[in-house]
Formats: sequence, structure tokens, C-alpha cells
Amino acid sequence: MFREDAFADEVVLITGATGGIGRATARLMDRCGADVAITGRNAEKLSELDSELDGQVYAYRADLTNEEAREEFITGAREMLGNPTALVNSMGVGSGGTSVADLDQDAIDKLMEVNYTATALLTRDVYRGMREREAGAIVFVSSLSGLRGSKHYAPYDASKFAITGFAQSLAREAIEHNVRVNSVCPGWVDTPMATEMLREVAATEGRETETLLREARESIPSGRFTTPEEVANATAFLLSDAATNVIGESLKLSGGAVV
Ligand SMILES: NC(=O)c1ccc[n+]([C@@H]2O[C@H](COP(=O)([O-])OP(=O)(O)OC[C@H]3O[C@@H](n4cnc5c(N)ncnc54)[C@H](OP(=O)(O)O)[C@@H]3O)[C@@H](O)[C@H]2O)c1
Repeated sequence: MFREDAFADEVVLITGATGGIGRATARLMDRCGADVAITGRNAEKLSELDSELDGQVYAYRADLTNEEAREEFITGAREMLGNPTALVNSMGVGSGGTSVADLDQDAIDKLMEVNYTATALLTRDVYRGMREREAGAIVFVSSLSGLRGSKHYAPYDASKFAITGFAQSLAREAIEHNVRVNSVCPGWVDTPMATEMLREVAATEGRETETLLREARESIPSGRFTTPEEVANATAFLLSDAATNVIGESLKLSGGAVV
């Protein structure tokens, strides 16, 4: 789909690279000639990904809710690969199955800390350099949940609305410095996060996870979940020169569920 040199000379930072979507994105960027900086908390998954990629790779295991870890990730990537030309924010945590009546502060804080605060602060630190160099592209992996609310997903939806709003605001500021910012907004994607979120809803509703998975698939006009590779393709398009006047977009991958 993309040429082998489509991202040659690019240095792409990818968070959540130990997860389904981040890993697919790292593989695609690597295949298209980019040097990639990958991060996640799971050491085994990170080193597996590191060893399968062909190009230059900076792999840094970290919990990015920690400020020092965020700084070390950016500094280490810059020292090994050069200045970042692109950032893909795929780090995230999911949760479902909670009635607002049963919400506690921990549940809200946990989701906001990762999906919004840490993602926004890491982006700030990378954006500072891009703004100075007057070049760069940023993609947030938000969600359909960042565009419309669903029953029993209030804390997750709110954290994704927060990051979509952050991305839109940054997009308008950043383009004045030749930095393009966009979001991808997938519906259900075939990764463990989706199954786990539906399992939580099934537990709350006293139903089988398999039944909810089937219903979720059947509710999508294309009849299936999006694959991580399809999210990676959309991200690559938004990062690429094919999208030079696409700014502040929230690109839906819903299989026709939301039009
Ligand atoms: N799956 C879906 O249906 C779906 C739909 C729409 C949007 N999304 C969004 O897509 C993104 C990627 O999700 P996914 O499906 O690929 O899920 P995933 O496989 O669970 O990946 C989540 C990634 O985030 C990382 N992460 C979580 N907390 C972290 C922290 N405190 N510090 C550093 N890294 C952290 C995880 O690292 P470790 O695993 O190493 O801890 C993992 O790499 C998320 O933002 C999610 O909200 C997913």
C-alpha cells in the first residue's frame, strides 16, 4: 500500500507499541523506511518487537505517567535516531461496564491519567521541538468513543473526548508552525483491549462475553471489527505527504457504524 521508502529519513515516536495498534503502526513505519522509537510497559513484548524490526530502533520500557520516563524516552530517541519528525500516541487503557451511579474517583483518575494527561504532556514535550524546527506530524489514536458517548463507558468516553479536543486545539495552533496534527477514531479493533472491555460490560450485565462480541460485530455494517493494520494504514496516511492539507481531522474507522 505504501512505498518502501515512504517514510525514509523519518524518525517516528510510537507510544503503546506493545499493544495491538501501536505494534502494527511500528511494523508499518519500519517497513516504509522510518527509524522508530517504541515504548510500552511490557518488557517482553517490547523486546520481541524490537528484534523483529529491520531499521534503526530505539526501544524504551516505561510507564509514561511518570514525567522522568517521558523525558528519557524523548531524549534517548533523539540521541540515538535524531530529532523526531512524527509522533503516534497509541498508549491507552480501556474500561467498560460501569454505571455512572457506581463511579468512583479512582476509575476516573486512572483513565484520565493515561489517556489524557500523560498523552497530552508527552505531546507537549515532543511538540516543543517540532515547533522550533517548524516541521512535524502528530497522530492521536483516539476512538469513536472520543466522538460520541455509549452506555456504561462514561469514564473511557470522557478520556477520549478529552484527547480529541486536545488534538483539535493543538492542530489549529501547530499548523502555524508547519506541524500537522490529526486523530484516528476507530470503533472496535481486534485487540485484547476490545475483548476485555466487552468482558467487563458482560460481567455488569450478567451476560456472556461471546454474546456481546457477536452483537458488537453484527451492529457494524461491514460485519467485523477493524484490524490493527487498518488503523496503522490510516495513521500512515495522516502522517504522510498525501495528507498535507488534512489538519485537525478525526478520521473514523467504524466499518460504516457511524456515518
Ligand atoms: N481496541 C479497540 O477496540 C480500540 C478502539 C478505539 C480506540 N482504541 C485506542 O487505541 C489505542 C491502542 O489500543 P489497543 O487496542 O492497541 O490496546 P492495547 O493492546 O491494550 O495497547 C495499549 C497500549 O498502551 C500501553 N500503556 C497503557 N498504559 C500505559 C502507561 N501507563 N505507560 C505506558 N504505556 C501504557 C500498553 O502498554 P503495556 O501493554 O506494555 O502495558 C499498550 O502498549 C488506545 O489508546 C485505545 O484507547 C482501541
